[in-house]
Amino acid sequence: MKFFLDTANIDQINKAHEMGIIDGVTTNPSLMAKEGIKGEKNILAHYKNICEIVDGDVSAEVISTDYNGMIAEGERLAALHKQIVVKIPVTENGIKAISYLTGRGIRTNCTLVFNPGQALLAAKAGASYVSPFIGRLDDIGENGMELIERLVYIFELYGFETEIIAASIRNTSHILQCMEAGVDVATCPLDAITGLLNHPLTDAGLEKFLSDHRKLNG
Ligand code: G3P
Repeated sequence: MKFFLDTANIDQINKAHEMGIIDGVTTNPSLMAKEGIKGEKNILAHYKNICEIVDGDVSAEVISTDYNGMIAEGERLAALHKQIVVKIPVTENGIKAISYLTGRGIRTNCTLVFNPGQALLAAKAGASYVSPFIGRLDDIGENGMELIERLVYIFELYGFETEIIAASIRNTSHILQCMEAGVDVATCPLDAITGLLNHPLTDAGLEKFLSDHRKLNG
């Protein structure tokens, strides 16, 4: 399972990169706004910075909702850096734009996916990735993990090449369940990833090792 970091925060991207555990980054307009990145020039420069830090794919989302706007923006984003994957919402125009961009060798990540039908259309259009949102389904009393499990099953059944990115991950338990489900990628906030390190027996064991060493060595 690949790990993407779901943030536009440069400090967090640097931190995860230095740990050597991330395979890419996903962003969205809300995450960009959270970092105060505004204006097309600054937004494009920020995406480029992220690409220069990490080695893997970096998802950059279009703001346009009309077909012509989506493809123009998609081509601009893709031209920025070879690691850019154009993130496009699963609307009718979005699916059309994914088909067009795929035909031109531009990789896409179809986002805001909440059911298998949407994922199927994204895969048929040739999306490189599809992003089902776990946490937002849980928020409305549905079962986000159940969607992930269904998508893994369906995509395997038909041999779709589209990779599944489990998105809207909120905690370490989501990550572990994604591993068990056999998802291709989990895109996570940094604290959910570092949360995987936590175990009280690790802390207690380390303290005991160090105190035994101190007893003898001072
Ligand atoms: O990148 C999209 C996704 O991961 C959003 O997560 O927590 O805003 O639902 P969240």
